[in-house]
Amino acid sequence: MPADSAPHPVAVFDSGLGGLTVLRALRGRLPLEDYFYFADTRFLPYGDRPEAFLKERGVLIAEALARRGAKALVIACNTATAAAAEAIRAASALPIVALEPGVKPAAALTRSGVIGVLATTRTLHSERFQRLVGNHANHVRVVGQACPGLAEAIETEGPQGPAVAALLDAFVEPLAAAGADVVVLGCTHYPWVAEAIARRMPPGVTLLDTGEAVARQLERLLAAAGLLGGGQGGLTVATSGAPLAVTATVDRLFGAKMHVEHWEP
Ligand code: DGL
Repeated sequence: MPADSAPHPVAVFDSGLGGLTVLRALRGRLPLEDYFYFADTRFLPYGDRPEAFLKERGVLIAEALARRGAKALVIACNTATAAAAEAIRAASALPIVALEPGVKPAAALTRSGVIGVLATTRTLHSERFQRLVGNHANHVRVVGQACPGLAEAIETEGPQGPAVAALLDAFVEPLAAAGADVVVLGCTHYPWVAEAIARRMPPGVTLLDTGEAVARQLERLLAAAGLLGGGQGGLTVATSGAPLAVTATVDRLFGAKMHVEHWEP
């Protein structure tokens, strides 16, 4: 256990640094918890990996986080949730918050009757996503747009980079052409490029991400388990990849210099 982290942090994990957009919402709502953020950078992108791999990896990570003293787990990754949330819940005794694309609120909000969902290939092809649409968005048209390469490009060159811009041109245009008036950011990396997405859509389009809802759900779960509070607002960031490279990316995305340590689940 590193000296700067409390014994029982809330663990948050993603394939990379997309989950920092969720962490920001968690810390905004529950600033006195301690957090352990794990970026599984060695295996980024999750979006192009087989479901069986993500299940095995997700269970391994959850078990290692529990051994490390985590009091709860936030799966800050839509792809890992879609592929592995059920397996992780079955294998772990920790309170778990999993997130999924905001299809339900989007279907309630749309006036044009068309919602766009930007997500990874794995998320859009998952049974869980099909169920989500079937249960909550049957009455609207759902235009799912897979965005291969986007999460890596955001990490590699930052939100303003030329490859990011070219990918966004290609991925956002079909949603505008279809007449979507609500766009679901169905991958935790995409809030980093929310403004660039909004610029490519007609004015008045609503962008939805799930950070706030996840924070409220974590608060409810911790309260119900009698685990709320008791921390000091500490944060440890760890990666399965190269800490120096991740430090530079955290700095670029988060706007803060942070120490990043190596951790192997
Ligand atoms: N941030 C992840 C998500 O929310 C996926 C990025 C990746 O493909 O690794 O889906």
